[in-house]
Amino acid sequence: MLFKQQAWLRQKLLVLGSLAVGSLLYLVARVGSLDRLQPICPIEGRFGARSQPEFPLRALQFKRGLLHEFRKGNASKDQVRLHDLVQQLPKAIIIGVRKGGTRALLEMLNLHPAVVKASQEIHFFDNDENYAKGIEWYRKKMPFSYPQQITIEKSPAYFITEEVPERIYKMNSSIKLLIIVREPTTRAISDYTQVLEGKERKNKTYYKFEKLAIDPNTCEVNTKYKAVRTSIYTKHLERWLKYFPIEQFHIVDGDRLITEPLPELQLVEKFLNLPPRISQYNLYFNATRGFYCLRFNIIFNKCLAGSKGRIHPEVDPSVITKLRKFFHPFNQKFYQITGRTLNWP
Ligand code: A3P
Repeated sequence: MLFKQQAWLRQKLLVLGSLAVGSLLYLVARVGSLDRLQPICPIEGRFGARSQPEFPLRALQFKRGLLHEFRKGNASKDQVRLHDLVQQLPKAIIIGVRKGGTRALLEMLNLHPAVVKASQEIHFFDNDENYAKGIEWYRKKMPFSYPQQITIEKSPAYFITEEVPERIYKMNSSIKLLIIVREPTTRAISDYTQVLEGKERKNKTYYKFEKLAIDPNTCEVNTKYKAVRTSIYTKHLERWLKYFPIEQFHIVDGDRLITEPLPELQLVEKFLNLPPRISQYNLYFNATRGFYCLRFNIIFNKCLAGSKGRIHPEVDPSVITKLRKFFHPFNQKFYQITGRTLNWP
């Protein structure tokens, strides 16, 4: 009898043990594969903005439990319901700069339970055709969110497009504006690399960076080259300052966001008057990617798409020196206006 009971117990323990090991293996495999597969949004508006607004599945799954913190009064999290969802105009916009790390910034801010991102670049204010469709069209492009959350969109073309500051001002004169910048020469090379990749994809040849950045007739920096012009941050910012006071801007150091994202994100949380919720847990360094990736919880991780973090072509050091010298006075002015010194060479 005793022997029978022991055998039964052994069998049960064996089944339970196998179940536990199996579950553990499944979990490890799933977390690992999610990381590798990078179930990343079809990042970057290559196909333009989607016609359907984004349904906030992730916001619902990951943010719902935390939302009660942001509700006024004593409402419990059970009271947060689907029918509360609304499409809200953005309270903050990442206006640029292209190749500054705009996608990384948006995705990382989206880790915050009170932030909901518009996944696609909407290009409402810089595209006349879209702008003509009116503000309701823009609002309907926004993701669903709870009233306590804030919507953030990013369209880096806003920063350099003439008409945009006035148009945004007309929508909301007290909107918060985020600008993420990188060392101007590196940004220009990154910009070039993106265009080069596009050309190569179409089997087209393209000039070398040196040829575009330096005017062959004068041997001076070619200010007609868009990648150079975009990196003269102060020139663009000055246009914005005709509409918005400097207090409405926050400068994010894009180079630091790559190497040390958390402190940069904490500064943005403060600027947006959000309680600090993004922690080191949410950011982990992925050695394969060479970048920080995002951790929402034990199951869901994601890295940015491969189009972020391209290998830059080698550029003649004398051209780099020339460009850095050229940008230097503009950078000084940028530090002076913004009150943020970035120690660029
Ligand atoms: P490179 O491709 O030159 O490395 P944007 O999103 O504005 O186009 O900016 C792209 C840049 O974001 C990339 O430029 C990359 O260096 C930077 N970046 C910052 N944080 C990143 C991250 N966690 N993962 C991938 N790229 C990141």
